[in-house]
Amino acid sequence: MEYGIRDHAVIVTGATRGIGRGIARHLGARGARLTITGRNPKRLAETSAELDGLGVEHLAVECDVADRDATFALAARTHERFGRLDGLVANAQTFRPVTALEDVTSSDMDLLLDTGPKGTLWAMQAVFPYFRDAGRGRIVTMGSAVGMTGGAGYGPYSASKEAVRSLTRTAAREWARHGITVNCVCPASAAHRRPPADDPDRRAVFDAMYAQHPMGRDGDPDADIAPPVLFLLSDASRYITGETFMVDGGGQMRA
Ligand SMILES: NC(=O)c1ccc[n+]([C@@H]2O[C@H](COP(=O)([O-])OP(=O)(O)OC[C@H]3O[C@@H](n4cnc5c(N)ncnc54)[C@H](OP(=O)(O)O)[C@@H]3O)[C@@H](O)[C@H]2O)c1
Repeated sequence: MEYGIRDHAVIVTGATRGIGRGIARHLGARGARLTITGRNPKRLAETSAELDGLGVEHLAVECDVADRDATFALAARTHERFGRLDGLVANAQTFRPVTALEDVTSSDMDLLLDTGPKGTLWAMQAVFPYFRDAGRGRIVTMGSAVGMTGGAGYGPYSASKEAVRSLTRTAAREWARHGITVNCVCPASAAHRRPPADDPDRRAVFDAMYAQHPMGRDGDPDADIAPPVLFLLSDASRYITGETFMVDGGGQMRA
């Protein structure tokens, strides 16, 4: 049995920074061919240049995950370019800093729901026909521990992430007979979001997150988060679907 993803065509949304970028580097270094996305053209070009330097065959496409038509076009372009489509890592989501629930606005909710569950659903729908026709496909979505724990201050984000987990289970049930697995990863790798040194209050909140952490450290996108994602894209995970994986160094045990 082949446990790798060599030559597989995989879409990684939101691959221009943080976790998505680490996943793209890790998958590319193991022979996957990639479509990477983001909205900011400069960051997209930088990431594309980095993948070129690593010898990773890829397409770099500016695409907002909230745009359903653009997401369908992205899947079609990927299939056209690589002649196959094997995996989706629905990683992109727009993030908003802390807002007390009583202050949450309609536009806060719209932004998080449009780019979280709706963006994830559009991407899942876009790859579905290709996966169904191939009789095989792998989808990895991104949830968050704060969705499960309540995430004080993160109401819209937490709600959006639990909706992503719910859609993950529905897709897993509806599409399992087509050879498609759908699983959710809840990562902890936020070093790139660490508030600046001149904002000691937010910095203290951030540091407190890791004070009780079993491993006492943040995850590394390439070395800690990406390998389990690769496993979920491979055939080694073919009998696992609808699951949530905490890839957080045991961080959830603090809850
Ligand atoms: N970091 C953590 O510890 C943590 C914890 C739990 C869950 N997560 C989840 O893991 C995923 C990655 O997290 P991260 O910390 O690496 O995120 P991040 O640093 O905010 O990066 C998000 C990536 O997605 C892109 N993006 C954002 N909004 C987009 C949109 N509307 N359409 C297309 N691309 C968009 C960004 O590029 P552009 O801005 O150029 O579009 C960037 O490449 C997210 O789903 C996040 O919610 C992260």
